[in-house]
Amino acid sequence: FKLPYDRCSPKEKQGFAYVSLVKRWPVVLTNIVSAVSNVNHQLHMNPDEYSEAKINEGKKIISQISQMKYDLGHNAILTPIENDGDINRECYNDELKTYPDEDRRWGTMNWLYAECYMYRRLRSYFASTIYWKEYDPFFEQKSETYKSSSNAILHLTKSINQAIKDKEKLNENFEEKGSKLEIAFLEMIQADLWGNATDLSLLVDLNYKDLQKLQAVGSDSQKEQFKFILKNDLIKVWNYLKKLNTKQNGGRIDFILDNSGFELFTDLILADFLISCTPFINKVVFHPKAIPWFVSDVLPYDFTWAIDSLLDPSFFTSHSSTPISSEDLNSLSDLANRWKDHLKTGKFQLSVPEDTKLGKATPLGRIWTTQYAFQDLPEVAPGTLDELKKSDLVIFKGDLNYRKLVGDAWWPTTTPFEEALGPLAGKITLLSLRTNKADTIVGLEEGVAERLDKEDPDWRISGKYAVVSFSEKR
Ligand code: F6P
Ligand code: MG
Repeated sequence: FKLPYDRCSPKEKQGFAYVSLVKRWPVVLTNIVSAVSNVNHQLHMNPDEYSEAKINEGKKIISQISQMKYDLGHNAILTPIENDGDINRECYNDELKTYPDEDRRWGTMNWLYAECYMYRRLRSYFASTIYWKEYDPFFEQKSETYKSSSNAILHLTKSINQAIKDKEKLNENFEEKGSKLEIAFLEMIQADLWGNATDLSLLVDLNYKDLQKLQAVGSDSQKEQFKFILKNDLIKVWNYLKKLNTKQNGGRIDFILDNSGFELFTDLILADFLISCTPFINKVVFHPKAIPWFVSDVLPYDFTWAIDSLLDPSFFTSHSSTPISSEDLNSLSDLANRWKDHLKTGKFQLSVPEDTKLGKATPLGRIWTTQYAFQDLPEVAPGTLDELKKSDLVIFKGDLNYRKLVGDAWWPTTTPFEEALGPLAGKITLLSLRTNKADTIVGLEEGVAERLDKEDPDWRISGKYAVVSFSEKR
């Protein structure tokens, strides 16, 4: 799809692409070097028969990452990704060939390509080893933030367990405007929207206190947050979902997942709410990433692990300011056991099998870790699109998925969302839940961007604002 506007690029020194290149990516890379060094140190302390070989591979990975960090700082040329036997290599190398030399540098390449390329190239260093193939360099970080989200997790757990108990009452006259079910839905979906603020690739700039504030749960803080949703299609989505009631076997929702930990937890809460409390939906398919991606994105292992951790009584205790009561532990295990049940009965389904830590990438699982914008899905991944067409609503979570939906371009901010979707528009019914962490944005009313530029210059990237954009199949 030929974009009518340029893509964001670090060439523009005032954009977030430039900040990413000079500030954020070096920190992401340095953190991986520390993670690998820690493992190497442990191996030194407690050697086994493979330690020496693994340590040596670890050292090689460290030097490759350090080289990449040097390259980004020195505007080096991007080179093809070497054969490492893993998925999605040719797509990067093929596209790379199409750029003239002056664009093919860290400081001049379009941001969407360069950032995806960086994570794919990182993967290459691990994939081409014997002992680090299954290693996820971001796992520790993901697990730490999940643990520190216990307050919000407990709050949501109690809300949904209660909602399920009150199901009958909740469903009374649900078609009516402002019904109890509608209000509950709005609460659950907003928790899921703001759950996206918990993105570890951004925690380079955000601190943990901000993070807890961003995990807005509870109706008061949600009301407070409502004004930060700059385009809000939530009611349209509700009206659409209500109509699925008439489908014989109930509807199907797909989540194109974004981050692990708290955000994933809120995805599961929304999914469970739709299945257990409403008459509309009976199946939810979750699409994780097949390789470690943008620091915090969900891998198949993270998915299972997030649910299992809720059953471990000691999991949250080390990080919680208030001790977790046995009643709380019971609520958590009710929730986790219900989710396991949904997985057994097929009401929840993970689209990538969990036979290894990283899962086995099915063709459908591969597309999410390519560099392609989703406008190009009809052309580059017709099979994936056919699968998504079976869904009644495909929910794209988060900032990167949003950037891909609109091609990460400098659209005028009042461009209709449908127009920015290009050839994808009308092919599936889709919803994007995104907190704003990058410059590109569409679907705003006249004057909004100009007002915010004056009032809160970081509004495009701070994660404080959000857009909820819905588009129906035609
Ligand atoms: O723009 C900031 C950023 O960290 C980008 O790297 C990326 O687009 C994105 O946010 C990751 O956020 P999310 O996890 O919401 O996709
Ligand atoms: Mg992410």
